[in-house]
Amino acid sequence: MNDRPRLTVIGTGYLGATHAICMAVMGYDVLGVDVDAEKVARLNSGEVPFFEPGLPELLTKALETGRLRFTTSYREAGEFGDVHFICVGTPQRRGSEAADLTYVDASVTALAAHLHRRALVVGKSTVPVGTAARLAELLRTTAPAGDRVELAWNPEFLREGFAVDDTMKPDRMVFGVTSAWSEERLRAAFAPVLAQGVPVKVTDLQTAELVKVAANSFLATKISYINAMAEICEATGADVHDLAEALAYDERIGGKFLRPGLGFGGGCLPKDIRAFAHRAEELGVGQAVGFLREIDGINRRRRARTVELVVELCGGDVAGKKVAALGAAFKPNSDDIRDAPALDVASKLASLGADVHVFDPAAMDNARKAHPELSYGTGALDVARDADVVVLLTEWTEFREIAPGAMAEVVAARRIFDGRHALDSAAWRAAGWEYKALGRP
Ligand code: UDX
Repeated sequence: MNDRPRLTVIGTGYLGATHAICMAVMGYDVLGVDVDAEKVARLNSGEVPFFEPGLPELLTKALETGRLRFTTSYREAGEFGDVHFICVGTPQRRGSEAADLTYVDASVTALAAHLHRRALVVGKSTVPVGTAARLAELLRTTAPAGDRVELAWNPEFLREGFAVDDTMKPDRMVFGVTSAWSEERLRAAFAPVLAQGVPVKVTDLQTAELVKVAANSFLATKISYINAMAEICEATGADVHDLAEALAYDERIGGKFLRPGLGFGGGCLPKDIRAFAHRAEELGVGQAVGFLREIDGINRRRRARTVELVVELCGGDVAGKKVAALGAAFKPNSDDIRDAPALDVASKLASLGADVHVFDPAAMDNARKAHPELSYGTGALDVARDADVVVLLTEWTEFREIAPGAMAEVVAARRIFDGRHALDSAAWRAAGWEYKALGRP
């Protein structure tokens, strides 16, 4: 048995492309697999198909070593790999809160047909608890190598914008395994990561699956908790910004994921908490995580409240008003617009008759495709020209650094809504702006 297993990475989206590139940089021979031939061609030619700081440089480096390649062939993958990572997406199912496992099932089925020798298949995708046990059985019954093919679960916790660091030096690793051999293979596949002293928790398959959704639920809960406090602040004249700061000094609480504002979006937190609640109901323990529906509700209300407050700022009606929307991505340092609070707010304002002009440093192409009804500009000052109100929706550094005086010169009216508590309210007010934010007097 070789020390350095040869790796395949099935699915080259956010998670898979990052994993494949980082593992090759760390010295492994890696074959990336995707059914999308165009994506495969772009990656082979050195182009990362999404925005992620630092990743394009690492892709170039990995391709130069000759250790990384991408293909559309499952047969090649089956012949090449000792350890196969499943990194395909599990989006929300249409018309349901449940996770859509189509891609997971399809990729494992396709791979299984080509597994003729002993191999380990490792799930990284976020799945409903119980999926791994089902996939293990699928592999055992359909792979030519039969029960010489094992399944392990190794959930991924990477954050967009920090994907490289989170892959190379994660806070922890979780290995869900059913045999000593699987654990040994996983340790061999992550030797350079573990050598840095990264803690590893070895457990069973179902606990490993649960760690991921439990972590994301906790993070979503923390964000919605402070946003619920913002609702109370709005009713009482208190300031949620000060409240959050004061809470954060308590080391038991901490300040991370306690930033109030427009709330969470993206391809993970919203759909993961819904799928978790749905799965718990299927298991007959829905009540245990019933609060997650409330967490989702608090989060959705922040978007609606933002629209209300912008309308209020405009004197009760936005019809015919020019709105400068700063931000489209679900968070800064990303071009991801999945379930993005920013675009949700922008399109709701447009549906009320506002003339909405959007600018985002990275997500313009994605936003244009998804929301052709909105107008797009070339920069913050460009969209702010003659605006009746400026609405900050994604806290990019370049928006934080806007000089209130410079923006005052181009707008029609000095009204700003800070959806992310990203601006220095005193400085904006001093420059003659009417400043409003969620949960602040
Ligand atoms: C998240 C998890 O952090 C990651 O571990 C998991 O693997 C995937 O889901 P990501 O979706 O990249 O990662 O975004 P994250 O940085 O967690 O932010 C999620 C959302 O919460 C963003 O919309 C962000 O704006 C919002 N947020 C975050 C807040 O509103 N307040 C906060 O205090 C923190």
